[in-house]
Amino acid sequence: MKNKIKPYIVSGKQTLPIIEGGKGVGVTTGATAGNFAKNDCVGTFSGVNADWVDSNNNIIPLIYKENTRRLRHNELIDYSIKGGISQAKIANDISAKNGRIHMNILWEMGGAQKVLTGILDGAKGLIHGITCGAGMPYKLSEIAEKYQVYYYPIVSSMRAFRALWKRNYHKAKTLLGGVVYECPWRAGGHNGLSNAEDPNAYEDPYPRVAEIRSFMNSVGLNDVPIVMAGGVWNLEEFEHWLDNPEIGPIVFQFGTRPIVTQEYPVPNDWKLKLLNLNKGDVYLNKFSPTGFYSSAVENDFINELKSRQIRQVEYRTNCSDGYDHEIPFGNRGRTVFIQKKDSDIVSSWISQGFTEAMKTPDQTLMFIDKSKSNQIITDQINCMGCLSHCRFSNWSDKEEKNFSTGAKSDPRSFCIQKTLQDIRNGIDINNQLMFSGHSAYRFQQDELYKNNYIPTIKELINRIMIGK
Ligand SMILES: Cc1cc2nc3c(=O)[nH]c(=O)nc-3n(C[C@H](O)[C@H](O)[C@H](O)COP(=O)(O)O)c2cc1C
Ligand code: SF4
Repeated sequence: MKNKIKPYIVSGKQTLPIIEGGKGVGVTTGATAGNFAKNDCVGTFSGVNADWVDSNNNIIPLIYKENTRRLRHNELIDYSIKGGISQAKIANDISAKNGRIHMNILWEMGGAQKVLTGILDGAKGLIHGITCGAGMPYKLSEIAEKYQVYYYPIVSSMRAFRALWKRNYHKAKTLLGGVVYECPWRAGGHNGLSNAEDPNAYEDPYPRVAEIRSFMNSVGLNDVPIVMAGGVWNLEEFEHWLDNPEIGPIVFQFGTRPIVTQEYPVPNDWKLKLLNLNKGDVYLNKFSPTGFYSSAVENDFINELKSRQIRQVEYRTNCSDGYDHEIPFGNRGRTVFIQKKDSDIVSSWISQGFTEAMKTPDQTLMFIDKSKSNQIITDQINCMGCLSHCRFSNWSDKEEKNFSTGAKSDPRSFCIQKTLQDIRNGIDINNQLMFSGHSAYRFQQDELYKNNYIPTIKELINRIMIGK
C-alpha cells in the first residue's frame, strides 16, 4: 500500500498527493497552508474574508465605518484583499518554498472577482493555484491566464465540469491544474447537489470520478489530476483508485480531518466536539443563505433552524378562499389571514412564548420568540454583503439589481458571515454553524486520536502517507 501512494506534480511541482481543503471563514489560513506546504503537500488558505495580519502577526480587526450594507460590502472587499495578501505572505514564509500554496474562494461570495484579482495582484508569485467552488466559475480560467496561476474548479459531477470546459476552460488548458470532485453527499461545508439529486440517495464517488476521467481523457486532459474530496478519511480505502487507468492521476483533499490538528486556529472546544461525534451527528441541511445544501454538526444552532421550519403556517394578506381566520400581525395594528385548521397550533405556539410572527418568501408566517426575532432583524440590518446574493437579507452584489435580490428576506435562514466568524472566535460554539464532513464520527474510532489526542499537521500527513 505504502509504495502505491506516490507524489504527483501539482501546480507545477512534485508534491505528496495530499491537499488541504480550503475552509472559510478563517479556518484555513496562511499558517495552516504554510504548514501543509512545508511538509511537501498542498496547503490551501481561504481567501473568503481572510484576516488582515500585520507584520507583527497581529490581526487588524475589520471595524465597519459605513452605515449602508452597500458601502460595508466595499469595506469588506477592501479588507479581504489586504487579508488575502497577508495570508499568502505568511503561507510562503512558513512553507520555506516547499510544497504548493493554493487559495480557495467561493464564486458565490460577494465581489468574488474583485477579491480574487485584488489578492492575485498584491501577492504575485506567492499563490500557485486557485480552487474555486460554489456556483459555476466560468471566468476562473480567464483570471488564471491573466495571472498565470493554476486553477482548480470544484465540481460534483462530470456534467458540471463539461459545461465549464466547453464554455471557457478549453481556452486555458495548460493552466488547468486539476479538477476537484467534491462528493456532494459526504463533503463538509457547502455541497453541490443538483436539483435532480436526492440528498438521501448517496452515490459512490468511484463511477462519478471515472466518468469525469473518461471525459477528461476525451479532450486530452489525461495527465491532469483529479482531486478526490469529501469523505476521504484514509488512503487505504482508496487503494483500488491508485494506479487505475479508469481513474488516472489522482490526489486527495482532506477537509475535516485537518481541523483536529494543533496548528488549526479554531477553538479547542470545536476540536473536542469533532473528536467525540457519533454517526448521524453530521447531515445535509438546506438552511444556508446561499441556497445550497450544506453539511454541519447537529447542535443548538441547527436545532433552532429546524424548529423555525416547523413553526410556520401559510397566510394571506386578504381574506380569501380558505384563509378566513384573522390574526394580528406586527406592531401597527395590521392583520393577516390563516386557515381555520391552523388557528389552534398558532395559539399554542404563542402560549409557549413564540409570540412574534415573521413573514417568509413562501407566504408563510414563522413563529419565534421576541429575542430571536430581534436578533434576526439586527443581523439583517448589520448585513455587509458577504455573498453575491443572500436569501436571509435579500442582499445582491449586482448594481443593476439595485443591490437586492428582489425577494422577501427569509427569517428561516441566518447570517453566515456572522456565525462563521463567531465560531472561529469561540463564541458560544453550540449556537453557531459548525460545518463538518460526514466522516467526522471516525475521529472516535481512529486510534491516532485516542484520549482526545490532537496531532500536528506533520503527524497527520505521516499517518495519511502510510494509508491510515
Ligand atoms: C469547516 C469547513 C469549512 C469549509 N469551507 C469551505 C470553503 O470556504 N470553500 C470550499 O471550497 N470548501 C470548503 N469546505 C470544504 C473542504 O474544503 C473540503 O473539500 C471538504 O471538507 C472535504 O470533505 P471532508 O470534510 O470529508 O474531508 C469546508 C469544509 C469544512 C469542514
Ligand atoms: S446577511 Fe450576512 S450572510 Fe447575508 S449577505 Fe449579509 S453578511 Fe452575508
